[in-house]
Amino acid sequence: MYLEQLSLTDFRSYEQVELSLEPGVTVLVGSNGIGKTNLMEAIGYLATLSSHRVSSDAPLLRFGTERAVIRAKLVRGEQSTVLELEINSSRTNRARINRSNPVRARDILGICQTVLFAPEDLALVKGDPSSRRRFLDELLVSLIPRHAATRSDYDRVLKQRNALLKSARAGKFSTGHEATLDVWDQHMARAGAELLHARLELVERLRPHLRNSYAQLTDRSKEAGAIYRSTLQGSVEDDGTAPAAALRGGSGSGSAAGPDAAEDLRLLSVDELTERYVQAFASSRRKELDRGISLVGPHRDELELVLGEAPAKGYASHGETWSMCLSLRLASYYVMLDDARTGGSAPILILDDVFAELDVQRRRKLAAIVSGAEQVLVTAAVEDDIPAELAGRRVKVIPGGIDEREDR
Ligand SMILES: Nc1ncnc2c1ncn2[C@@H]1O[C@H](COP(=O)(O)OP(=O)(O)OP(=O)(O)O)[C@@H](O)[C@H]1O
Ligand SMILES: [Mg+2]
Repeated sequence: MYLEQLSLTDFRSYEQVELSLEPGVTVLVGSNGIGKTNLMEAIGYLATLSSHRVSSDAPLLRFGTERAVIRAKLVRGEQSTVLELEINSSRTNRARINRSNPVRARDILGICQTVLFAPEDLALVKGDPSSRRRFLDELLVSLIPRHAATRSDYDRVLKQRNALLKSARAGKFSTGHEATLDVWDQHMARAGAELLHARLELVERLRPHLRNSYAQLTDRSKEAGAIYRSTLQGSVEDDGTAPAAALRGGSGSGSAAGPDAAEDLRLLSVDELTERYVQAFASSRRKELDRGISLVGPHRDELELVLGEAPAKGYASHGETWSMCLSLRLASYYVMLDDARTGGSAPILILDDVFAELDVQRRRKLAAIVSGAEQVLVTAAVEDDIPAELAGRRVKVIPGGIDEREDR
């Protein structure tokens, strides 16, 4: 798919801006702080309903305004779709699809497909497990939008269950509470099992692409892998991280290709996983009542990224960390492309400020890999940072808008 038109009202630094785009490569050039990332962030927000830079919506509204609007015209094959998303400060966000009556923002998930590369991606490797869980869940929802509901069901039950556990910790627990907790356990087991099942399948799909992308970007000296570690396996520490020592137990070709601790879970159905959670909740109940929080569930799982024998986190060099982050994004692009062959759509690639971070070798390799995508949007403050492989349209971003004079 490609984005033909983007229009923003009161989004970030823009009072009003219109951007016309074409398939193929477009490089947006402009000085630091001019608003390039703001444009890319708006497109990413349409795809995921979240920003890659901030966790709340407030900074997305232009200072002093109450409402921002993102409008986009997307073209997929012969079909075009107009999306309009309203981000509100004091009421729920709403959307319109092809100028229909307003729908829930969530209903547009899956329509705009993007893969966004940004400097913030370093957190995928260096950050805490929540960054990697978010990576998985965002990709999952763009591939299978109904999982937005799976996620929010799970989050809702988790919140309620935590509130109950917290009150228990405060000494306000009775037999009645125990029965209520049993009910929450059932709900959380079901929602958790659905989420876990979907994540495990997704990791399976990502894994070969991650390995290949890393090999393509580097000199193939190390193999990149990913291991999903579930709290059901009892191997995740209380702080939500898996012990590094356990990972180094892999043999020969590295733990990435070696035995996977999640192997048995992958063979289980949603019903079987539900049963496992029910059992796990029962056996951790004492501990959970003491701590006042839910200790078992996909909200505490980890996606371990592995380079050769060692975990990427804490071991990888700066350059290796970057290659791993890029490979994860490329892997999600390839998974979406696989889907496109069976009715999905090829995502728009967005590379925001990444070339400045890379050495010449990796710039060229990344450029060569992405240049064939249906649409690639690249931002740069310095045009010379863009490798020749990404020849294409150049758009100049100027204060408050776009310079319409094209320079090819
Ligand atoms: N909510 C907001 N309201 C008004 N202005 C904002 C808002 N949020 C951010 N800005 C402004 O937007 C500008 C940042 O824009 P952006 O991050 O898109 O720059 P950029 O062109 O990507 O720069 P760089 O090349 O440094 O990455 C800043 O000047 C910032 O003050
Ligand atoms: Mg920027």
